[in-house]
Amino acid sequence: MKVQLALATNDPNVPATIKNEAEKVLHDVPGVRSAKVLIDIHAPPAGAGTAVIAQRLAGVRHIIAVASGKGGVGKSTVAANIAVALEQSGARVGLCDCDIYGPSISLMFGTRERPMATDDNKIVPIEQYNLKLMSMGFLLDDTSPAILRGPMVTRYTQQFLRQVDWGELDYLVLDLPPGTGDIQLTIVQTVALSGAIIVTTPQEVALIDARKAATMFEKVNVPVLGLVENMSYFVSPSDGKRYDIFGSGGGEREAKRLRAPLLGQVPIDIATREAGDRGIPIVAEDRKSPVSAEFCRIAAAIREKLK
Ligand SMILES: Nc1ncnc2c1ncn2[C@@H]1O[C@H](COP(=O)(O)OP(=O)(O)O)[C@@H](O)[C@H]1O
Ligand SMILES: [Mg+2]
Repeated sequence: MKVQLALATNDPNVPATIKNEAEKVLHDVPGVRSAKVLIDIHAPPAGAGTAVIAQRLAGVRHIIAVASGKGGVGKSTVAANIAVALEQSGARVGLCDCDIYGPSISLMFGTRERPMATDDNKIVPIEQYNLKLMSMGFLLDDTSPAILRGPMVTRYTQQFLRQVDWGELDYLVLDLPPGTGDIQLTIVQTVALSGAIIVTTPQEVALIDARKAATMFEKVNVPVLGLVENMSYFVSPSDGKRYDIFGSGGGEREAKRLRAPLLGQVPIDIATREAGDRGIPIVAEDRKSPVSAEFCRIAAAIREKLK
């Protein structure tokens, strides 16, 4: 029997110790004749910086990552509206746009305000609709994302996490970039996430990528709280007929596969798109709309899961 383990450590003694002990335990399992443990070693992601990041986030009760495999599936829309819905339930909420290549928080929250730095070099999130907002894009000028690559992205992400002063929050929602690149890996490895939400459309191409995102969280033992199927269907305003534009049932099937709940199905909705473009998430603009009700149900399910 062969077992492969991945470890993050700087201590040269740790891998050998774990290898020996694991092999010993495996040998004693009835039916196992021989056991070999192979170990992959990765350097820990942040070294000393991790402690500072943990300290900076110490006042935050729950950190939730909103992720997707593909871009353009509505991840930022879902993250923003869930954040607003959580705030409306009486919680203190922060929302952080971690997509340096395509940040959208300024647009979706109708603010061009820039965050301020304190004397001791901490960055204070800006406030809008009673939410604390921050974007990794705020700290870059318009040309720099294109030249941030590989290790620089990792360093930049860590520096960002060290500097932002979130204060006391019940929920911090992280809007991750699409996919499983350097920013996502740095965040899942350095921040103690309470759980992740995966956003997908019902289309097979989106679902395949959603699976990859879910696997990334599984690898670092972050529970996937559930799936949100966005752009699930469209109800024609003229005749009330329902159209499954991107197919149907995909989110449900994928949720079953991942053994995670399907937290909600958000239809394609013109008012939702318009509200987002106008700088006020639909839940903040019209909390009575059917789409807002769905976002509030999703937020309630998240609150319940994190209790
Ligand atoms: N349920 C929806 N109905 C209508 N438009 C939507 C919906 N979800 C997202 N959009 C629109 O689709 C575009 C992409 O959404 P966005 O949230 O920026 O995606 P992502 O963050 O995944 O790239 C935006 O213009 C947004 O307003
Ligand atoms: Mg986005």
